[in-house]
Amino acid sequence: MSAERVWTVLDLLRWTTDHFTSRGIDTARLDAEVLLAYALECDRLRLYLDCEKPVEETERGRFRELVQRRADERIPVALLTGSREFWSLSFEVTQDVLVPRPETETLVTAALERLPDTEAELRVLDVGTGSGAVALALAAERPKARVVATDLSAAALAVAGRNAERLGLADRVAFAEGDLFEPLAGERFDLVISNPPYIGRGEADSLAPELRHEPESALYAGADGLEVLRRLVAEASDYLEAGGVLALEIDPRQAPALLQLCSDAGWRDVRTHRDLAGRERAVSALAGGEA
Ligand SMILES: C[S@@+](CC[C@H](N)C(=O)[O-])C[C@H]1O[C@@H](n2cnc3c(N)ncnc32)[C@H](O)[C@@H]1O
Repeated sequence: MSAERVWTVLDLLRWTTDHFTSRGIDTARLDAEVLLAYALECDRLRLYLDCEKPVEETERGRFRELVQRRADERIPVALLTGSREFWSLSFEVTQDVLVPRPETETLVTAALERLPDTEAELRVLDVGTGSGAVALALAAERPKARVVATDLSAAALAVAGRNAERLGLADRVAFAEGDLFEPLAGERFDLVISNPPYIGRGEADSLAPELRHEPESALYAGADGLEVLRRLVAEASDYLEAGGVLALEIDPRQAPALLQLCSDAGWRDVRTHRDLAGRERAVSALAGGEA
């Protein structure tokens, strides 16, 4: 990306896409577009409308630094721009939270399918809320719901709190710091939902380098990745009304183990939910007793 020649928007996109591809980044073109739009302070559509426009050296300098950090340090695009869309809502993200993933929309959809009444005055608990993605998507979809969102990480809760404010949902979403259900003694909910850490420690070395920029406590859960899921399946019924819903995100390879854990623990109507790639990405079940 030499400084002497004239570089148009399209030249920069082409050069950067090739550069990212040569560095093994799968989403090369998309990443180039998002970062260039961010450097130029415009949206991605504007890049196409202005594709023949020369880009000034100051803006190119800003873009060059982003490209370098993406390619060399493998920082995820969302952490370079500080935001990520989830459930068509815009979330602030920092290194203190997991960047919300598209597959987590399967978890939200599973919960909404189980609780289809849009007017219900639901009580919802999101365990391990991170950026607040799941809690806030549910609050947006169920306007009479009241949501409690917990996390071990005070830094993550600060980000989630800012997201709740910015999305205008803070009056119905409360945050509590602590280990799983520990801040909620004696409370009961209609839905307990969680996208917990579920990667096995042994897999750490074989994962994409981008994951090094996200908090370890958001990713790893013991040797087999099931440490937190096991506790959620064992403890969640104490915090649910009779017939209340449990919804958990999983690694698709964990589906047989989760189905077994749920049936051993007495959960009813246990189902798996597939993501857009057809993989079993979430499990849902009902607490014992009549609703
Ligand atoms: C995979 S991230 C999910 C974040 C967010 N819910 C999402 O779907 O994008 C898991 C979150 O659980 C939190 N966490 C991990 N162990 C926990 C525990 N024992 N109690 C409460 N939160 C925990 C982590 O800090 C992290 O924010």
